[in-house]
Amino acid sequence: MASFLQTWSIKPLIMAFLVMNLSKSIAVQIYRPGPWSLAHATFYGDESASATMGGACGYGNLFNNGYGVDTAALSSTLFKNGYACGTCYQIKCVYSPWCYKGSPYATITATNICPPNWSQDSNNGGWCNPPRTHFDMAKPAFMKIAQWKAGIVPVMYRRVPCVKRGGLRFTFQGNGYWLLVYVMNVAGGGDVANMWVKGSRTGWISMSHNWGASYQAFATLGGQALSFKLTSYTSRETIIAWNVAPANWNVGMTYKSWSNFH
Ligand SMILES: *[C@@H]1O[C@H](CO)[C@@H](O)[C@H](O)[C@H]1NC(C)=O
Repeated sequence: MASFLQTWSIKPLIMAFLVMNLSKSIAVQIYRPGPWSLAHATFYGDESASATMGGACGYGNLFNNGYGVDTAALSSTLFKNGYACGTCYQIKCVYSPWCYKGSPYATITATNICPPNWSQDSNNGGWCNPPRTHFDMAKPAFMKIAQWKAGIVPVMYRRVPCVKRGGLRFTFQGNGYWLLVYVMNVAGGGDVANMWVKGSRTGWISMSHNWGASYQAFATLGGQALSFKLTSYTSRETIIAWNVAPANWNVGMTYKSWSNFH
């Protein structure tokens, strides 16, 4: 009886101790700003930024999906095959008479690629050709740092944590046997290194990077509630978003979670 009591009373303590240490070791690896570097910036579209819809990251309608007008297309050097999708930057104009006084910065999220154009010289129009680091900003974002008449300006930029309201959002494509998920509204580092899906009748299934901010699993997941586990590319933090989608989930739908990176 005594040993039973002892085991019984000590178990919660051990559990609490383990949980405390576990949460300490995975504790909030907060992403901090990187160093400033030199690049250039141009703009595209008009003041409404309607031309920013449907970029290579797959975010679709940027207004509905929480990105607003403060977005940019990155040259392939910065885009990193889509791993830069969702990362955030402060950008300020430098060394140009077109810069606004006091070098105000715009904070943008990477939502698209600015592809190379090899029929243009890298120093004359081919601004996005490798190895150039270039931001083709939505016009409203560009207008926060310089007069748009400038066309192109030198800038200083740095990676910063993404400040997002609410939890991760998951937009579904595919079918009952192939799930393609676009991950949006990612806070912290803003990027995703690895992703897993778990149906209510499966274990964790590793998803592969498709393109942009999309991840896929070839598995039978129809009719099951779905949870997701994600690791941040930048901070390596892992989080789980439990029961994001109900058993009657559908493609074309966006499901919101309560979880997000720090
Ligand atoms: C690439 O540059 C050429 C020359 O300026 C231009 O005619 C063409 O439209 C550009 N291609 C793209 C895809 O922008």
